[in-house]
Amino acid sequence: MNYPNHPPVNADSLYEDCLRCHKTGKLAFGPILHKGHYKEGDNHFTSNPDNNCQSCHQIDLTTGVFGVVYAK
Ligand code: HEC
Ligand code: HEC
Repeated sequence: MNYPNHPPVNADSLYEDCLRCHKTGKLAFGPILHKGHYKEGDNHFTSNPDNNCQSCHQIDLTTGVFGVVYAK
């Protein structure tokens, strides 16, 4: 990942650390990550068979909730 305009973050940041700025609004994490990984001509969801929605999401089979793997 190389975003020269991004504020500095630690390489060992946790999901929660990113949410400090990416919780809601224009920078909401879901849309930002989906767009970043789903660019025309460079679609990470199909360019590698191991990458798909479940790289980040898992479905809780009891509640049916579509959650994020790294979230606590
Ligand atoms: C201090 C606030 C802050 C923190 C913490 C932060 N971000 Fe950001 N992030 C921003 C801002 C502001 C932008 C929009 C500016 C830009 O595009 O570079 C952004 C944009 C992004 C983008 C979109 C870049 C693009 O051009 O498409 C990604 C991806 C991203 N952040 C990932 C992360 C990740 C992963 C973390 C945790 C490791 C993180 N951010 C933590 C403020 C933050
Ligand atoms: C790179 C990680 C990543 C991948 C891959 C990913 N998501 Fe997400 N998604 C997220 C994050 C982070 C959120 C925000 C969760 C939150 O706010 O608690 C999110 C949120 C969502 C939401 C809730 C609405 C929203 O946009 O916030 C839906 C629906 C969703 N994702 C669907 C998908 C589907 C369908 C795919 C596969 C095509 C996918 N996601 C792939 C990280 C990802």
